Amino acid sequence: MNYSKQFVVGLPKAELHLHLEGTLEPDLKLKLAIKNHVNIGQKTIKEVKASYRFHDLTSFLKVYYPAMNVLQKESDFYDLAWAYLLKAKKNNVKYCELFFDPQAHTSRGVSFKTVINGYYKAVSQAKKLGIEAHLIMCFLRDMPYESAKKTYQQMLPYKNKIIAIGLDSDERNNPPEKFIKIFKQAKKDGLHITMHCDIDQIDSIKHIKTCLKNIGVERIDHGTNIVEDKSLVDFAIKHKIGFTCCPVSNSFVTKDMKGKEIKYLLKKGALVTVNSDDPAYFQSYISDDMYTLATKYKLTKAEMIKLVKNSFNASFMSEKKKKQYLKLVDKYAKAH
Ligand code: ADE
Ligand code: ZN
Repeated sequence: MNYSKQFVVGLPKAELHLHLEGTLEPDLKLKLAIKNHVNIGQKTIKEVKASYRFHDLTSFLKVYYPAMNVLQKESDFYDLAWAYLLKAKKNNVKYCELFFDPQAHTSRGVSFKTVINGYYKAVSQAKKLGIEAHLIMCFLRDMPYESAKKTYQQMLPYKNKIIAIGLDSDERNNPPEKFIKIFKQAKKDGLHITMHCDIDQIDSIKHIKTCLKNIGVERIDHGTNIVEDKSLVDFAIKHKIGFTCCPVSNSFVTKDMKGKEIKYLLKKGALVTVNSDDPAYFQSYISDDMYTLATKYKLTKAEMIKLVKNSFNASFMSEKKKKQYLKLVDKYAKAH
């Protein structure tokens, strides 16, 4: 490889697949647990770190949701998002669209207002760090449709604080069509739409097809199983569908980074991007994900530049703004 980790860290980036709740580092978790008098069952950072263990999506989510009990006050949500933004700055993230899961908090008695106001305060202050940040509200697909509908109603008075609607959590027995009505409504209401199609799920390809052909999503989060159907790959390229891939996360939940699939999609001209998903749990921020993938799959400098350009192109920003960010990438590439 004719470039260093430093080159990758310095590349101007957009991050499009990042769960704010997945940025809860063990030290902040412990600090908030003590402050809010929440018994988390661990007493040291080392013990918290040791508890971050899983082998698939379901076992990951079993660790992930209980950890959120430490988030109680508006300032806790702010602190969590701000800590991520500081890390993003170090990774030269210039633009980000961040997932959050209101139902994971409202279901345990924290109000929607507390969650959104805390997160929004942080994203609106991101400018101070030279970052443009936006929020994507996700529904938990393993909760009933009625709960998603209620959450959508709770969101409406704050609609100008979010850019898009997403769908995450356990995909098993929770196909995208369960939420078709609410995503169509969100589109009508002027919101962008994206959905997780996690790696190697039962019916992965069927779910991807539904998302693309029946629901009309603009991006698929993960989604590399699309390589199993060449006509769908062609469809995704034609319609400029973004794929927000997370190689290190993939390697935790499936033992495979899905690097072959990412490289294939990149070469074919799909809008494939690299992101960190839940960096505190997978101990990998966006530059680490990019560099890990690059080393294992021998990506060229030109391919790394293409990946970051794809991330700006797959974002929900205006075409005019995209051009400005792409110029920044060109300038960096020229200088390095
Ligand atoms: N929530 C946080 N990370 C997730 C992932 N990778 N898939 C589904 N839901 C998630
Ligand atoms: Zn995710």
